Amino acid sequence: MKRIEPVKEPLRGEVIVPGDKSIAHRAVILASIAQGRSRIFNLSGGDDNSRTVKAFRQMGVDIHRDGDALCVEGKGWKGLGAPKEIIDCGNSGTTMRLLSGLLAGRPFRSELDGDSSLRQRPMQRVIDPLSLMGAKIKSKGGAGLAPLEIEGGGLHAIDYRMPIASAQVKSAILLAALQAQGTTTLEEPLKSRDHTEVMLRGFGGEIAVNCKSIMIAGGQTLAGQDVRIPGDISSAAFFLVAAAMIPGSDVTIRNVGCNPTRDGVIHLLRQMGASIDLRHERAEAGEPVADIRVVGGKLKGVDVGGEWAARTIDEYPILAVAAALADGVTRFSDVKELRYKESDRIAAMTEGLQQIGVQVEEREDGMTIHGGNKLRRTRVRSFGDHRVAMSLAVAGLASDGGVEIDDAACVDISFPGFFDLLGKICLH
Ligand code: S3P
Repeated sequence: MKRIEPVKEPLRGEVIVPGDKSIAHRAVILASIAQGRSRIFNLSGGDDNSRTVKAFRQMGVDIHRDGDALCVEGKGWKGLGAPKEIIDCGNSGTTMRLLSGLLAGRPFRSELDGDSSLRQRPMQRVIDPLSLMGAKIKSKGGAGLAPLEIEGGGLHAIDYRMPIASAQVKSAILLAALQAQGTTTLEEPLKSRDHTEVMLRGFGGEIAVNCKSIMIAGGQTLAGQDVRIPGDISSAAFFLVAAAMIPGSDVTIRNVGCNPTRDGVIHLLRQMGASIDLRHERAEAGEPVADIRVVGGKLKGVDVGGEWAARTIDEYPILAVAAALADGVTRFSDVKELRYKESDRIAAMTEGLQQIGVQVEEREDGMTIHGGNKLRRTRVRSFGDHRVAMSLAVAGLASDGGVEIDDAACVDISFPGFFDLLGKICLH
């Protein structure tokens, strides 16, 4: 249980958030299949990323600390051996889906499992395209659910039109395609985060991208690199919203990855009336990075249609909190995908916000949130979902008497140290 006290003063100060979780998974994966040493700097330390590191250690890759770097001694594809034990992906959907693609091409048997949340998340979306490539993947949980048993090897290229925009599915196919005979082409319905494509090039891979279409040839080898991971915009989002919704606040978040496939939260907060400035724009690991300054004020409700879904996907829970504090109504539509995340985020945020006194209407594909409510003292459930826990914590800052979160330890999945950092910019 974690208690969040309401703030008495505007938020002020500077914060540095952990390294981007998505980018870090890809860095560990590409470094492990590359030839030569890679050094990865600014890895988050969150549980999800540690699962990916552990998975490659199980496959025999030498991954060790050297000062503030994580060193990966890649020996190419052949450096990966059959894991003796089941790979436990914990809560990490990215680990399970990306590794499904990678393992589908390796000539050995492996098994991927996860916690009770991950065992309920849809894996058929990776099983389908990988099976078309010739992979043999068995859903031991039945109905496309984990555990997944993979008998890898012998893949061939496909032309695939993805039914949903998912960077995890796209990346799983790309990792399989690298090992397949022939050239794979992919088409996404909306452009999802492109960290795999960006980093593949950084590791010397060849990939042709034309907006939502991708071409990638099999049989490629990669070369080890040094990678500095930018701060995670999905973690920065909690501070962006906290500062934006508390008038008089002035907070700068340093070194945040601002990839245009991830920056929906910045654009939507601006539409809501927030004052957000990007400073010192630069590039790190091929990714755009900036310091973000937010000045708090009054927000107003907005309509958020499906065109925002891909570039905002993990920020809906915290944007729902901004909507609760805004004047007017906010409608989130065409985001049924939120029901398949670490928790059913539409149901979880509806329950949490209603409990705090917000008028919320839940729909199959989204939520309508009536803003301008007084947030009351109460106890809420996180459903073990890190982003729900952190979002409700931010709501607690603006509540009358504080909010108690039943399970807040789950924040360690992506953001160890979240509560300390929040405390740093709050005067109670
Ligand atoms: C991720 C992609 C997104 C996102 C998840 C991380 C990734 O999932 O929600 O937190 O690292 O590729 P989907 O691919 O299911 O949209």
